[in-house]
Amino acid sequence: MKISIEELAKLPSKERDKILNPVFTALLRCEFDNDVIEAALRDSPLINTDAQGAKKLNRIAPSSMAKVTHANTKMIAILSCHHEQTFQNILNAFSNAAFDPPYWPCEKDDLAVSRWAADQRFIEIEDDKCRITDSSGATGWIEMSKSPIGNNTSRNTTTQENPDMNNAFALSTEQSEIINTIFDKYTNGAIKDVTPVLQSHFKHLPELQIEVDTLRQKLANLPKIQVPQSRPSSGVIPSGKIAMRNAQDVFGVRSPLLDFEITTWEWDAPHPHVPERFDNYRFDVQKLAQYLYGLEHNLNQWLVGHTGTGKSTWVEQVCAHTGYPLQRMNFDADITRMEFVGSTQVVIDESGKQVTKFVDGFLPRAMQAPCVMLLDEADAIQGDVAYVLQAVLEHKPFRLLEDSGRLVDPDPHFRIVATANTVGQGDPTGLYSTAVKSQSTAQRNRYNVFLEIDYMQVDDEIALCKELNPMMSNECESFMTQFLRLYREGFANGDVMEPISPRNTQTIAQAITFFEPKIGLRDAVAMSVKMNLTSRANESDAAVINGLLDRIV
Ligand SMILES: Nc1ncnc2c1ncn2[C@@H]1O[C@H](COP(=O)(O)OP(=O)(O)OP(=O)(O)O)[C@@H](O)[C@H]1O
Ligand SMILES: [Mg+2]
Repeated sequence: MKISIEELAKLPSKERDKILNPVFTALLRCEFDNDVIEAALRDSPLINTDAQGAKKLNRIAPSSMAKVTHANTKMIAILSCHHEQTFQNILNAFSNAAFDPPYWPCEKDDLAVSRWAADQRFIEIEDDKCRITDSSGATGWIEMSKSPIGNNTSRNTTTQENPDMNNAFALSTEQSEIINTIFDKYTNGAIKDVTPVLQSHFKHLPELQIEVDTLRQKLANLPKIQVPQSRPSSGVIPSGKIAMRNAQDVFGVRSPLLDFEITTWEWDAPHPHVPERFDNYRFDVQKLAQYLYGLEHNLNQWLVGHTGTGKSTWVEQVCAHTGYPLQRMNFDADITRMEFVGSTQVVIDESGKQVTKFVDGFLPRAMQAPCVMLLDEADAIQGDVAYVLQAVLEHKPFRLLEDSGRLVDPDPHFRIVATANTVGQGDPTGLYSTAVKSQSTAQRNRYNVFLEIDYMQVDDEIALCKELNPMMSNECESFMTQFLRLYREGFANGDVMEPISPRNTQTIAQAITFFEPKIGLRDAVAMSVKMNLTSRANESDAAVINGLLDRIV
């Protein structure tokens, strides 16, 4: 009555084609055909290859595709479908083909059977039963009408509509009496009470509910569009693939805020653009969670903070932890459109001749690879460069007017992060005004996340000083702690204008450690602070700093 997969495989290929062609063709027309196409491509020299007469996949109609694909491939392709809808399409295609006698798997209503057949590779059908032989040779009869998979859809609907399944076995006395009588009769007394049966059925429900929630959360964190999960090596750049990992593990910090999956890259060899890890970097967990969220959802981010708050290092260190390559452009020097976008240059071609050619600048090079593009000191970007960025910040293809209007497509893992001392609306403090240019509202509007980065806590900063400078004496440590605390207070109150950053703290602590054994703490402090801080400060700041020193030492 029916034909098994094995029997189908044994038919002469013409016969097999007669059965499989209409099914395969119908399948290619449906929207769930990726598995099939991939399987077909693996085996067909006539599609997308250099063979004579080979055709481009996007040029051939589904009906021709069936002709150029080998019968075995069609079978494998059909069996490789895993999507429920695709299975339905296979069934429809078989039944629409109206074969006589009907061939497997034309049981229209029993999706479960065909799916099992595909997984188990062998199936026999007799009336309303089917026998499945698995790869180990084990067999068993099942009744199709009781197939658990066949009832899948209705079961799922009930669970979703009625999530309080814990009470599902709370039957009224009347109900259980009726059900128990029926069970008793039809199981010949083997089951007299239905309650334990129901209980055993539902007892795993809470665990399953937790699992469903976890999977839902994972799904919510996944990128919404399908993007490539690996990159082949280009010779200079190693090949790499994505590994989704929990942010807590990646950064070695336990916090519910970081309990989500993030994209990390695993490269076959050291990637020249992935920065080196600096394990002493201290992340603010709340900001880190927001930043990682932004990276995962491809949001443009603007990190703002005073000089030395660690903005550039932040971007660099997240790349170092996640394996994301970093492309950094500093706008503190005047970067022109030509440097940013590229220009026509005279170059030597392979034959040694001089030719004029457009050479991609920083932007198109960065855009076409998975990376974080760091626009450092973004509030100093010039007008013409800012204009180029408009389309890029919208993650749209960028038209290179200088290269005959060539379109540059952004890589799906291309991310944009800007750092600056201001939010791009000029500098109200006057501390950075020489470099800062007011950025247009249109450009600032294209950044989705603004993160204010602050100096680390004083204790953290001193601990970091000690880690980087282990010979630092206890006296020096105590001086640095008091000095930094008072200085930051003074800066916050506006008593002193010159900010003090970890760059200063580390330099001063290092100098004190060097000079203290030679001239004592007091003179070493005076000398080191003058050398690094007071000498460049204006008169009023210098007076405040000297006042602080007098109070401490
Ligand atoms: N949270 C931190 N943990 C460890 N080191 C830090 C931290 N914040 C700043 N630093 C150190 O301070 C120095 C300055 O950091 P960085 O250059 O990243 O600051 P920035 O905010 O980009 O400054 P600017 O605005 O001047 O560009 C670096 O040596 C960095 O390692
Ligand atoms: Mg910086």
